[in-house]
Amino acid sequence: MIIAITALKGGVGKTTTAVHLAAYFQSLAPTLLIDADKNRSALVWSKEDKLPFYVASQAGAPGLIKKFTHIIIDTQARPEPEELEDLAAGSDMLILPTTPNHLDLDTTVKAVELLRTLDANYKVLLTKVDSRTKNARDAKKFLSDAQLPLFAAEIPLLVAFQRSPSHGVIVKDYRDPRSHIGWNQYQAVGQEIVKLIS
Ligand SMILES: Nc1ncnc2c1ncn2[C@@H]1O[C@H](COP(=O)(O)OP(=O)(O)OP(=O)(O)O)[C@@H](O)[C@H]1O
Ligand SMILES: [Mg+2]
Repeated sequence: MIIAITALKGGVGKTTTAVHLAAYFQSLAPTLLIDADKNRSALVWSKEDKLPFYVASQAGAPGLIKKFTHIIIDTQARPEPEELEDLAAGSDMLILPTTPNHLDLDTTVKAVELLRTLDANYKVLLTKVDSRTKNARDAKKFLSDAQLPLFAAEIPLLVAFQRSPSHGVIVKDYRDPRSHIGWNQYQAVGQEIVKLIS
């Protein structure tokens, strides 16, 4: 299965999503995370060798791909339309993370408008959700009114997500009383993907 994580906007949780979904898929079968972002954030995250899956740069990926069952691609922000088109053509599914912030939602709608013109399989994932806020409730209503395909699971706003990269681990392996909440939600997203694609 090839899954690409993309968004027209930066800082919406692409790398966090790519890393945690790679960990979920690795629990099913050998999984490779390709870091296709020039900033190499996932590669930096993996530097201490504590992530439970293999991370490769885009240049290093071709020789490795055949050894893995699942491929997760982390991409850079603001892809050109052609890049989005190539990603859609080359993946089984595109995941578009967005925060509940108005500007991020607006950019997600633009990405979906573009994807609707292609034969793309995509789904929107709400990230950094503080469910106590009106902002989060409004975002869900907005996305459902706009009829965007949305994962039922959503990723909560947690300090553990902010801190786990500097410890080189996924949130499941970061000591925090709320870590498991974040990991459970990424597992739920993974399960939704498996159901959709298999
Ligand atoms: N669910 C979350 N709760 C709290 N913080 C989060 C969450 N998801 C991501 N973050 C934090 O938000 C910031 C941006 O996340 P991330 O790097 O995953 O986004 P990105 O879309 O890959 O960004 P870029 O466009 O720069 O590549 C990081 O500091 C990350 O730790
Ligand atoms: Mg990133």
